[in-house]
Amino acid sequence: MPSYNSNACHPGSLLSVEHLAISEISDILAATVRLEAMPRPERAKLLAGRKVALLFYESSTRTRTSFELAAKSLGATTTLVSDKSSSIEKGESLKDTGLTLRALGAEAIILRHNYSGAPELLARFTGLPVLNAGDGMHEHPSQALLDLRTMLLRLALDPSTAHAASLRGVTVLIAGDIRHSRVARSNAMLLPRLGARVILCGPEALLPLQALGLADGIEIERDFEKALAQANVVMMLRIQKERLAGLSLDLARYIDDYQLSSERLATYASKALVMHPGPMIRGLEIAGEVADGPQSAIEDQVRHGLAIRTALLIRALEVKA
Ligand code: CP
Repeated sequence: MPSYNSNACHPGSLLSVEHLAISEISDILAATVRLEAMPRPERAKLLAGRKVALLFYESSTRTRTSFELAAKSLGATTTLVSDKSSSIEKGESLKDTGLTLRALGAEAIILRHNYSGAPELLARFTGLPVLNAGDGMHEHPSQALLDLRTMLLRLALDPSTAHAASLRGVTVLIAGDIRHSRVARSNAMLLPRLGARVILCGPEALLPLQALGLADGIEIERDFEKALAQANVVMMLRIQKERLAGLSLDLARYIDDYQLSSERLATYASKALVMHPGPMIRGLEIAGEVADGPQSAIEDQVRHGLAIRTALLIRALEVKA
């Protein structure tokens, strides 16, 4: 029986990009490349007999499915616990749910939770490696890593390493509902450390200056067209209606001012890479033709999510690959 130290988080945990050293990011990218090149039967032995639990308190398509498929491709057994069909509905706490999964043999937990900081609590309660699959409005670290890999590959940069100048000369525009976006937060923390210039763009209601502690390398531009004209990468964000809580927004005006339409893209950013973490609302923040167009890397992002999460599971369970 392993011993668990309730004060320390397992080193295989991924709770935030904030505390991830550039050397660790580089190791994750390198492992992703190695795992992709590995023959499938060999890859399927890496986590054979290991158990991974997916614990989801919020809905998800991409993150949940890619973590599950990644674990299975490595030979692990997976189990899914969702707040909708488990004893969480009866009031069981996060701590007791985590301890139950541990008692059933889970060796790592992938957690999506509506409260910021829940993954760190779970990591402390259980002593297991916990991978943050998105916590409230805080962070979505695996999304930022898959976004990084997508940018490196689509911009013809080295996808197998990260350093302080990996994205030097690259301007990334993050536009839309910055206020509620854990994806924006993780990317805004990660990309400037790798040399990127980051521009945030959105209306006051969705990008309130007082709510932001702007790090070096991050700028605000309210005029979407001026921001687009400077961007090598445009990352569009969904308006998170589920988190608006009292904020009122004139959607028709928002579409006029901030939708990434094909006309805007052709006029102001005809060479930029278009990204979106999903789920996207076609016709609101992004036009369908743009999402499906040649500049779009949106499906690449999903594919790279599977690749990056494979490497994160190997790291979590401390297996050499
Ligand atoms: N990008 C993202 O987290 O998508 P899901 O909510 O579908 O997992």
